Amino acid sequence: MKRRRSKDKEEIMESLVRDDIMSMESYAAVEPVHVLAERVGVPLERTAKLDSNENPYGCSPRVRQALGNFEFYHTYPDHAHREMREMLEEYTGIGTEYIGVANGSDEMIDLILRVVLDPGDKVLNFPPTFGTYSVHTEANRGGLLNVPRDPDTFDVDIAAAKSAIDDRTRAILLSNPNNPTGNLTPERDILELLETGLLVIVDEAYYEFSELTVAHLVPSYPNLIVLRSMSKWAALAGLRVGYAILPPTINDCVYKSKPIYNVNMAAEIAAKESLKDAQYMKQTVRTIISERERLYRLLDEQGILKPLPSQGNFLLCQAPDGNGARIKEHFQNRGIFVRHFPALYDMLRITVGKPEHTDAMIKALDELEV
Ligand SMILES: Cc1ncc(COP(=O)(O)O)c(C=O)c1O
Repeated sequence: MKRRRSKDKEEIMESLVRDDIMSMESYAAVEPVHVLAERVGVPLERTAKLDSNENPYGCSPRVRQALGNFEFYHTYPDHAHREMREMLEEYTGIGTEYIGVANGSDEMIDLILRVVLDPGDKVLNFPPTFGTYSVHTEANRGGLLNVPRDPDTFDVDIAAAKSAIDDRTRAILLSNPNNPTGNLTPERDILELLETGLLVIVDEAYYEFSELTVAHLVPSYPNLIVLRSMSKWAALAGLRVGYAILPPTINDCVYKSKPIYNVNMAAEIAAKESLKDAQYMKQTVRTIISERERLYRLLDEQGILKPLPSQGNFLLCQAPDGNGARIKEHFQNRGIFVRHFPALYDMLRITVGKPEHTDAMIKALDELEV
């Protein structure tokens, strides 16, 4: 039962927190699939969860086995992530001193902004893009300097970005490929951003699907950070492991200021087993890439949702005029969950699922009265 809070208590609680956090907008996170399934009355096993860019094939079987067999959950994990960093050195080809691990790449964004932002500093951002960039910037007392992408191609406008920079701008956040638009910013544009001397944070959460990276540039550029995730290609979204490839001095500051045991033991075991089984997981990535192309082709032929080309494991699609919410609901009633962006031309983002998810979606669209 909810207890009623008195007005006095409410005022005291409000006076105890930062005003800027009090007035911050909440991130609109996707609801858990069992909640959505129950709401629409579709059994969980008949749902298609295509709203959070997860890997529908699940994690490596080695992960499940290793988690079940491990006997030391009563001990704290390694705060310095030594074994994971060694394995990531092997995976990325970049030395352990350049590698930092976190509770998802999302936490890594927070940790990096924590060590670089002074109150009032600005972070250059290219909307439409990943929503938590603004959460972490604001939570770390920074402000966003938004330079919108081209409305047709969603390319970053490098000239506009450079001229927007002022003396409070400290960092640039670039999702590459960009979530939710799926397009890539080429290396030559990133080199131009690096020339500004600002810290350039390139978020490569979908690297394994795009295969374009600037990670090899990190040892040569003291102002470049690359973020990576184990959530997508390794299917570990629920266990939370991400990492950064970053200049060692910044990495040391991250390790000094992070929560000590930020990566739990289960997540560490899962990450290590996934890296050992990278070949197997990469096969699921290849399957998803070819399904992405099939989903694109089928949607394009059908002509109701217009997909944009994508280098991620998702497709951003234009809904027919003013029909985004209706199509999302039509899918939802059939247990197909996608992400709707009302403020982004009413578009829908569809995670690439298994072939049967594609088929269910195309069938649902055939049944739609437009
Ligand atoms: C561009 C981008 N960066 C980071 C993340 C967060 O990934 P993680 O699960 O590693 O925190 C996501 C998740 O959707 C994403 O789309």
